[in-house]
Amino acid sequence: MEQLSTRRARVDDIHKILELVNGLAADQLMLPRSPGSVIENLRDFVVAEIEGEFAGCGALHLVWTDLAEIRSIAVDPKAHKRGLGRLLADELIRDAEQLGVARLFAFTYVPGFFEKLEFNVVEHSSLPHKVFSDCLNCPKFHACDEIAMLRVLKESEESHDRGPLSLPSSLAMFPRIQQ
Ligand SMILES: CC(C)(COP(=O)(O)OP(=O)(O)OC[C@H]1O[C@@H](n2cnc3c(N)ncnc32)[C@H](O)[C@@H]1OP(=O)(O)O)[C@@H](O)C(=O)NCCC(=O)NCCS
Repeated sequence: MEQLSTRRARVDDIHKILELVNGLAADQLMLPRSPGSVIENLRDFVVAEIEGEFAGCGALHLVWTDLAEIRSIAVDPKAHKRGLGRLLADELIRDAEQLGVARLFAFTYVPGFFEKLEFNVVEHSSLPHKVFSDCLNCPKFHACDEIAMLRVLKESEESHDRGPLSLPSSLAMFPRIQQ
């Protein structure tokens, strides 16, 4: 039986991550990533391997104290439907749980895949503005056709009285910067 595994990404994966993600993006299957965004966020990434050879990647990006995004999950088309996507997602979800993140979201063209991972479709407008900061650089800024999906990992103390997706109404919880 073939050996499937995941590990944290390393700098020598950067080129392969970019090639895979941007190859799939060229076929309109996901959004592209710039070299800068992969390099700067490399510590977000895990990679999947078959018999020790690169076959996929995915990233967990923290956007707020109780919210993180699963981004750029991509599996080499030659290796689809062999469990690598789920393996990557499970690793990222475990990572989020270890960090204590309460909610995970994703923007995707494949809601069926995320439904298998216990995500539910939500309105874009139900997500806080902060999650759209990267959209400023997206070619589809004015015509976003990705589906927003959410999975609740645990009850969030911050949003307890303000609905499941709201953020703290003030930044009073953060210490003031001394001038
Ligand atoms: C989506 C993607 C990551 C799935 O990877 P994969 O390795 O083929 O997925 P898996 O084999 O682990 O499948 C896990 C489950 O999801 C289901 N699934 C996989 N792709 C699916 C799809 N496109 N639509 C619906 N369900 C899908 C599988 O049937 C499987 O269900 P099961 O556990 O009940 O058998 C892969 O197709 C891909 O790289 N697509 C292009 C990029 C992309 O769309 N990324 C998504 C987020 S941006």
